Amino acid sequence: MTSAAFSPITTATPQLEPANFLNLLIIDDERSIREACREVALSLGYTAHMADSAEHAYRMLETQSCDAVLLDLRLPGAGGLDALRRIKERRPEAVVVVVTGYGTVQSAVQGMKRGAYDYVTKPFSVDELKLLLERVASHLKLKSENRLLREKVKSKQGFGGIVGRAPEMEKLYRIVAKAANSVHPVLILGESGTGKEMVARAIHYSGPYRDKAFIPVDCGSLVPTLIESELFGYVKGAFTGANQSKDGLMSMAEGGTIFLDEVGELPVDLQAKMLRAIQEKEIRPVGSTRRVPINIRILAATNRDLEQAVTQGNFRRDLYFRLNVLSLRIPALRERRQDIPLLIGHFLERTARTSGQEKMLSDEALKAMLAYDWPGNVRELENCLERTYAFTSGPLIHTTDLPREIANLPGHDSSIASDLLPKIIPMAELEKRTILSAISELNGDKLQAARLLGIGKTTLYRKLKDYATEGFQS
Ligand SMILES: Nc1ncnc2c1ncn2[C@@H]1O[C@H](COP(=O)(O)OP(=O)(O)OP(=O)(O)O)[C@@H](O)[C@H]1O
Ligand SMILES: [Mg+2]
Repeated sequence: MTSAAFSPITTATPQLEPANFLNLLIIDDERSIREACREVALSLGYTAHMADSAEHAYRMLETQSCDAVLLDLRLPGAGGLDALRRIKERRPEAVVVVVTGYGTVQSAVQGMKRGAYDYVTKPFSVDELKLLLERVASHLKLKSENRLLREKVKSKQGFGGIVGRAPEMEKLYRIVAKAANSVHPVLILGESGTGKEMVARAIHYSGPYRDKAFIPVDCGSLVPTLIESELFGYVKGAFTGANQSKDGLMSMAEGGTIFLDEVGELPVDLQAKMLRAIQEKEIRPVGSTRRVPINIRILAATNRDLEQAVTQGNFRRDLYFRLNVLSLRIPALRERRQDIPLLIGHFLERTARTSGQEKMLSDEALKAMLAYDWPGNVRELENCLERTYAFTSGPLIHTTDLPREIANLPGHDSSIASDLLPKIIPMAELEKRTILSAISELNGDKLQAARLLGIGKTTLYRKLKDYATEGFQS
């Protein structure tokens, strides 16, 4: 035994990565046990301090750093559970493992209820203690890694809560800042789930119209026969049921911004009316002969190739040019992989706040998420974490808790004989089947289906429309 009981034996070398390291405090009145535990801790490369009573431990905690405690619950004097409470008060972050005697597991249960991380029953073997300490160290490592992710996020939010620090995103923020201060229309391009609406809001809320309305319009989900009256309003008697006149969405946005989401879905006849509204800065409500001047900022978004739609005659070229005065493209998540950990940290923290429960990702789960391609982009990542959070019972999210395609677990392809493999199905067909079966599982609830599938409702409606034109409507 060495005599340097209270001085750290190993010193932590400064590391960028969270250290796989423990600073352990052993509280036991039996000297032989204290020293044996210390030997084990040292053999694992950890630091160990020893105290022979609760009082002694409190004094040490005033000056010593400590991230884990091995606490004998059968201490003389004040009970072990009381000591546990007082240690937790002094060091809420410390991981405490309680040591109980044979046949007193009840006290271990009490200890766990009061915040102990785990327990071990005396007598225990060296191997048992080693395993336990290694588990504590890896728990602490995960905790600090997850905290690191969260800290990074705090300093890495761009405009309007947009998370991302990839160079492409930095460039995007600069364009957003410029766009915010101009009055021209902006066309926002990006795959589904990349944050087009978020960017539109950021442009509005950092610009001069921020105190006025921001009105999003889902061009893909408006009922075609009602789009015109929804957008431009109508006057009394314009059609059956129009008992009084009503303002449209364009008028509601007066002085502010209208966001034409999925603008590529706008029917061709409406495109002409929209063009006129933008060009002339006036609208004509349905059934009215009078034109009403408007003063609104136009932002539009699409995940379609509008240029191609123009070439194919599905989108008016003149409207395309009007909307496309400024354009910006949000990169897909797989094109800016360094933002994945930031976004994970952001959503983990947000869910912890709203649910009051803190959960962490295991190393493996984090690796799987970093390696995945995220075809549904940020929305898919957000939904994945929300669902996984809800369905994971413990504080740790394992790879097996993740959706199968992300977990990428071995075993379900290698072991299947090739003649049993289904014939190759095109992705588009698989996607269609998934969407249609989700809607039917959910008794036709498309909003819920979109949410669970991790796609926007606009995207879902558009796809359904495409299937309908192919003759596949469910
Ligand atoms: N960079 C980001 N930082 C934080 N949250 C993001 C980011 N990008 C997207 N999100 C979140 O992902 C979800 C999808 O974003 P948004 O609705 O803006 O995407 P979208 O491109 O309009 O998607 P869709 O095409 O499916 O309508 C939202 O819940 C949004 O809060
Ligand atoms: Mg959207």
